[in-house]
Amino acid sequence: MNPTLVIGGTGKTGRRVVARLQNQGLPVRVANRPSFDWNEPSTWPAAVEGVSAAYVTYAPDLVFPGGPEAVSELAELAARNGVRRLVLLSGRGEPEAFRAEQLFAAAAERYGAEWGVVRSAFFMQNFSESFLAGSLAAGDVGFPADGVREPFVDADDIAEVATAVLQGAAPSGVVHEVTGPRLMTFEEATQEVATATGRPIDYRLLTTEGFVEELVTAGLPPEEAEGVGGLFADVLDGRNESATDGVRRVLGREPRDFATFAAAAAAEGAWSVRPD
Ligand SMILES: NC(=O)c1ccc[n+]([C@@H]2O[C@H](COP(=O)([O-])OP(=O)(O)OC[C@H]3O[C@@H](n4cnc5c(N)ncnc54)[C@H](OP(=O)(O)O)[C@@H]3O)[C@@H](O)[C@H]2O)c1
Repeated sequence: MNPTLVIGGTGKTGRRVVARLQNQGLPVRVANRPSFDWNEPSTWPAAVEGVSAAYVTYAPDLVFPGGPEAVSELAELAARNGVRRLVLLSGRGEPEAFRAEQLFAAAAERYGAEWGVVRSAFFMQNFSESFLAGSLAAGDVGFPADGVREPFVDADDIAEVATAVLQGAAPSGVVHEVTGPRLMTFEEATQEVATATGRPIDYRLLTTEGFVEELVTAGLPPEEAEGVGGLFADVLDGRNESATDGVRRVLGREPRDFATFAAAAAAEGAWSVRPD
């Protein structure tokens, strides 16, 4: 049996897709740097060679310059090389991500491959495995979102949906828009983490500029920090203040709630106090 390619297979959703496939005893090819690099197209052909399906996550983010074109070129290369099913991870409310979805689908169709898109809300795991984890552990979160509400979604639910699409257990030729069950502000989510850890956590409202500065201080390259800041300034304006039934449609069950996620992540030590 040919392997399934997982681009970004060590990332928040990618490694969960890898784990699901491996738990079924299925062969997987994990693609990330240095063997596969979005910035080095010469590394792409070896990744798609001999695989039957591919889960495509773009880094740092689809809305960064060149993202839509890169996933489209990758889809074309893969489909021309016989990859039969291609699934793209995308983000809600982002015009450049919608353009990427369209280019990706068109490239797959042009060479007879099935495609699917998993268009996701803001991941819960940004709080436990990504840029918010350190400040939550330190008890002081600065973020550029005031009263806007977001239907945070669990990366395990995203991965389960993506795997179903990869395996033909969910419809292809479809954008699966996935969210969690509940609209919450970032401050409410922070307080849920505080409840789960049993420690107080302050929430400070930042300007976009202040947030970018904090990301740079935390070690993110300035260009990437500005890209993330600009993305949040765009999408955290209320446009995503709605929950969808995308998870239930594919999996036949409700998505996981933030409180359940926070309790499990706290029990796993996601926000253990770190030594200085
Ligand atoms: N986070 C969210 O809330 C959210 C919501 C909706 C959509 N998305 C989408 O999710 C995607 C990002 O996924 P994620 O948040 O799961 O990322 P992530 O956890 O940070 O993982 C990124 C993955 O990509 C790899 N990677 C990084 N730079 C790469 C490069 N230049 N070439 C090849 N691989 C590279 C990383 O491994 P190495 O570092 O080892 O290469 C890792 O496997 C974006 O396209 C974004 O649009 C995210």
